[in-house]
Amino acid sequence: PADAALSALEAAARPRVPAGRLWSAADLIDPYPLYAELRASGPIHWSDTLFGGAWIVARHLEAEQVLRDDVRFSAQRTNGWVGGGDRAAAQATCGDHRLSRQELSPLQRLMAQAFLFVDAPDHGRLRGLMHAGFTPSGLTALRPWLVERIETLLDGLQAAQAGEPSRPVDFIAQVARPLPASVIARVLGLAPGDEARVMAWSDEIAVFIGEPVPDADTTRRAQRGLLQMAAFLEREFAARRAAGMPGDGLLGRLLRAREQGVIRDANELMAQAVMLLFAGHETTRYLLGNLVQTLLAHPAQWQQLRDDPGRVHGAVREVLRAECPVQYTGRRVAVSHDFAGQRLRRGDAVIVLLGAANRDAARFEDPERFDITRRGRASLAFGTGAHVCIGASLSMMEAELTLEALLRRWPGLRLAEAAPAWQGNPLYRGLRRLPLWLDGGP
Ligand code: HEM
Repeated sequence: PADAALSALEAAARPRVPAGRLWSAADLIDPYPLYAELRASGPIHWSDTLFGGAWIVARHLEAEQVLRDDVRFSAQRTNGWVGGGDRAAAQATCGDHRLSRQELSPLQRLMAQAFLFVDAPDHGRLRGLMHAGFTPSGLTALRPWLVERIETLLDGLQAAQAGEPSRPVDFIAQVARPLPASVIARVLGLAPGDEARVMAWSDEIAVFIGEPVPDADTTRRAQRGLLQMAAFLEREFAARRAAGMPGDGLLGRLLRAREQGVIRDANELMAQAVMLLFAGHETTRYLLGNLVQTLLAHPAQWQQLRDDPGRVHGAVREVLRAECPVQYTGRRVAVSHDFAGQRLRRGDAVIVLLGAANRDAARFEDPERFDITRRGRASLAFGTGAHVCIGASLSMMEAELTLEALLRRWPGLRLAEAAPAWQGNPLYRGLRRLPLWLDGGP
């Protein structure tokens, strides 16, 4: 088709992201100067290297336009997971170490059907099934259990500090990592004992997803994690079938939908389950870490929260804006069209930098200022449009309840390291570790 025939002239005329600039080692620790540069120099840029060639959108206006237009921008993107033999995807996935198509296909086949990557009308059919797990009344019902789970994890933190008073405790390892895993296990209806394995598989997948050009080893490990996760879910489904009923939680709901034919085949069933199991882990872990880190780095605002714990909602919203856990998402151009002064061609990849849009002065006043009393519209931390995060309220509830408990237990909470240990992954903004002194330190 004519769309594929991009002339050399047109290709050369695309406004470029400076080679190697996105993401340099420094950008991975502090991406905000780069984002400011991109926003200032134009509404859209082309990168020859990222994801095998992609448009980069950094401004809020265009970011919102892309995410809300699911006719011209398809969710069937290819960040290496999806794409059914697409050449750009194969390159992006393998980087310099091409994997064979055969090696890639289990990842691609499975994940292409997850509703994050599916367009209307199938998207609505699949998302509608899951909706019941995330309604306000569902969240209210979960709340007492969640409060108890948080208290148990904070008891563990306290015991660790009491055991070794001269060493700080790691909030990531002891709270931020396990909490979302137990929540998602609960929502899906899994037994609590399985969380550790699921977390390990999730971590392997996350490293892969976060790398624009992952090497072969990372890709294989992600594949292994994914397949193990799928095998685990398969056993869970089989046990429920053997018991003669679909059982509890969202998994029960998915199984019932499969029995009724609303979910079309075994692969479609598995893709939804794997995605749900995976989606809430790293994201919420990083929200919890970024929340504590950012608030303690702004002592006056921590004090404001101590004086008025009613501000926790505002604090969580502001951390989501200023240090959003998911820094970008992607789309694929569905129909060639002119956008922001450029000709977008069908099939082009588009990367929407949520972390950059959230600091756009055209939308947020004085955007570099961290301010828990900020009012106005929500940021793009959870995306927008048809694919807006289904777990947004759930993860915000986890964050708010955790923050309330921390303020109540340890008003003198303090950072034990001056520089935050950002993990240096372009997709996920989050901390490797977060060492804290619970009672102000030794
Ligand atoms: C979608 C971020 C927590 C499940 C999304 C999107 C973003 C996002 C940015 C939109 C992607 C796009 O439009 O391409 C986050 C963040 C979280 C979080 C920052 C925590 C702080 C969760 C949790 C769950 C979840 C806890 C599940 C329990 C999903 C699903 C989608 C999604 C299933 C796809 C929705 C659709 O395609 O219709 N999330 N998420 N997320 N999220 Fe989350």
